[in-house]
Amino acid sequence: MAKVVLTGGAGFIGSHIAEELLSRGHSVTIIDDLSSGCRENVPAGCGLEVMDIRSPEARTFLSKLEPEYVVHAAAQMSVRLSMEDPAFDTHVNVYGLINLLQAFHGRKQPFFVLLSTGGAIYGEQETFPAAENHPIVPASVYGLAKYVSELYLDLWRRQFGLRYAALRLANVYGPRQNPHGEAGVVAIFCQKLFLGETPLINGSGEQTRDFVYVKDVAAAVGSVVAESVEGTFNIGTAVETSVNRLYEAISAACEVNIQAAKGPAKAGEQMRSCIDYGRAKAAFGWSPRTGLSKGIELTAEFFRRQAKEK
Ligand SMILES: NC(=O)c1ccc[n+]([C@@H]2O[C@H](COP(=O)([O-])OP(=O)(O)OC[C@H]3O[C@@H](n4cnc5c(N)ncnc54)[C@H](O)[C@@H]3O)[C@@H](O)[C@H]2O)c1
Repeated sequence: MAKVVLTGGAGFIGSHIAEELLSRGHSVTIIDDLSSGCRENVPAGCGLEVMDIRSPEARTFLSKLEPEYVVHAAAQMSVRLSMEDPAFDTHVNVYGLINLLQAFHGRKQPFFVLLSTGGAIYGEQETFPAAENHPIVPASVYGLAKYVSELYLDLWRRQFGLRYAALRLANVYGPRQNPHGEAGVVAIFCQKLFLGETPLINGSGEQTRDFVYVKDVAAAVGSVVAESVEGTFNIGTAVETSVNRLYEAISAACEVNIQAAKGPAKAGEQMRSCIDYGRAKAAFGWSPRTGLSKGIELTAEFFRRQAKEK
């Protein structure tokens, strides 16, 4: 059992990671400013400190607590906002990380786990699925900030002996994903369908993504923490699914038949995205366990319950 600080644990992926870490017997303290997360997402048994990761308070808190692991899931995660307000994205996603790292200057450093991105870091891919050594050509400030974050961790490794893992996540979906943002197409489609509204598909719908179920992502973090696995790892399924195909599967799972509307393609959107998880499999035995149809079924069930409660 280890003492773990989890930033962003009141958010979508963070809350599943919190459950995973608790189930493995760790003590978990969440730092979250609740800017997009909420208290209801925090599982019983976790401490919650409502703090901004950029604040001096967060730094003081961390240095006093002396955690053995920091799992860093807090982020500004809207690609669109990162292009509208690059300074804000960089402040949260890069400065925020440095502030956390600085808490341990001259002290014993925890093992760091960064939630990076496999969807936005490689840019328009040259090979499919992309392995970790694929060229890094991000098309957004968000993707760039995640890459820069990885580089900071690596600098800390070389200069101060930091041990860390960077997990480059594909498109994550599942229960508790926020359906109001611009990301999270599975959550957005499910919610619209249950509300009887017409979902919008941007562009032709033939753009592809690699959809990984949130519990599988949480399991990857659990294993990395259990074994202190160092390195950079893609966490995806290596399966490409078009948005049109995804929409068909979601409408079938929701048992709602509404024709989606088509809108203009989003500027800067990648056409295809799909990542190779062979390195994670070799290093800590991870592979995705939840196929897309099962994952969509579980997600649709969650949004069906939510729609009924409204
Ligand atoms: N959702 C995906 O498909 C996906 C894919 C790749 C990587 N990621 C990464 O996974 C992590 C979690 O993403 P998510 O989808 O759960 O998003 P989310 O918005 O649900 O979670 C982010 C959490 O961070 C908190 N937060 C934001 N700014 C903060 C700050 N300044 N101080 C303290 N807390 C702050 C929010 O309140 C929220 O609870 C992020 O780092 C994101 O970049 C997500």
